[in-house]
Amino acid sequence: KKSCDILVVIGIGGSYLGAKAVIDALSSSFAWLEGDKPAIVYAGQNIGEDYLYELQALLKNKKFGIISISKSGTTTEPALAFRLLKTQLEEQQGKEAAKRLIVCITDAKRGALRTLATQEGYKTYVIEDNIGGRFSVLSPVGLLPIACAGLDIKALIDGAEQMMQQCGITTPFEENPAAIYAAARNSLYQEQGKKVELLVNFHPKLHNISEWWKQLYGESEGKDGKGIFPASVDFTTDLHSMGQYIQDGERHLFETVISVLEPNHTVSFPHDDANLDGLNFLAGKRVDEVNKMAELGTMLAHIDGGVPNMKITLPKLNEYYIGQLLYFFERACGISGYILGVNPFNQPGVEAYKKNMFALLDKPGYEAESAAIKARL
Ligand code: PA5
Repeated sequence: KKSCDILVVIGIGGSYLGAKAVIDALSSSFAWLEGDKPAIVYAGQNIGEDYLYELQALLKNKKFGIISISKSGTTTEPALAFRLLKTQLEEQQGKEAAKRLIVCITDAKRGALRTLATQEGYKTYVIEDNIGGRFSVLSPVGLLPIACAGLDIKALIDGAEQMMQQCGITTPFEENPAAIYAAARNSLYQEQGKKVELLVNFHPKLHNISEWWKQLYGESEGKDGKGIFPASVDFTTDLHSMGQYIQDGERHLFETVISVLEPNHTVSFPHDDANLDGLNFLAGKRVDEVNKMAELGTMLAHIDGGVPNMKITLPKLNEYYIGQLLYFFERACGISGYILGVNPFNQPGVEAYKKNMFALLDKPGYEAESAAIKARL
């Protein structure tokens, strides 16, 4: 039963990208208009004043709930959004009712979000210490929002578990997809100078799987002056914008294509007697047949143009196969980082902008940094 019409998921980076990736991959493209499940919206993933103004206007006098996610419990972007939206919820519903519409996911003991949740008496879920943000989609961080979107989280975990067996340390290299992918991308990087990996899809719902993947690989491998730059394109859309460069620009690219074997729905092109658009050669064919020929044609063209291609095939888009895909990428990421010779589980570079921002905003405790940075301006 819907206890709210809109669910706001607050978080940034690893604390929201996984949930968004899975929800978008497995929901109707127009879910927000359909209204049978709570519409999921996101906050705390930017500091856009217009974004927050428009979100607050959308939520005005609506039944909404909040899931506030921060492992550290101290990240500025989600903390700001939570303060604004919790205030609005309390004003609209009263403090007691608002409490029942807020869930926090954070560290068991540390951080401002933990303190706040304990003081206010919010329901909480714990992010275990040994799970890094970008590896947390299969923990409550991803599973709670995904379940609230009406998706089958058991099937998601079943898929991930199956992939965990398949990629285990006792599996021989030739049968271990994560090891093969990790080895292949490092070989392309180190031996052929392919410094940019494009994650390609031919299925618009996979756009945010790529956003999640970019964080996973970018934050895990981009360090010590090394790392494949993870980028992504949605085809065929981006063939009309990035296609020229990929085909013909600097040859530092390789592509990893996620191919979905069978769509969940069927649409065929109708015959038209007048055939004014000249498309009768496609009459009776499914949209996906055209898409698959675009996929094959693109792969062949890009290989001819000097862009090596790898292909990952999903039988269809459902929770089980997406669970497999997530675990596959996570596992491969760990292996790949170690092949590259970096620690794939830290992210020291993320702190630099925060230090400057706090210094510029005169945060207490940053007095020396404030003076130093202002002297540079
Ligand atoms: O992967 C990571 O560690 C980061 O992307 C974090 O998830 C992100 O910075 C948000 O951090 P937190 O969950 O502590 O608010």
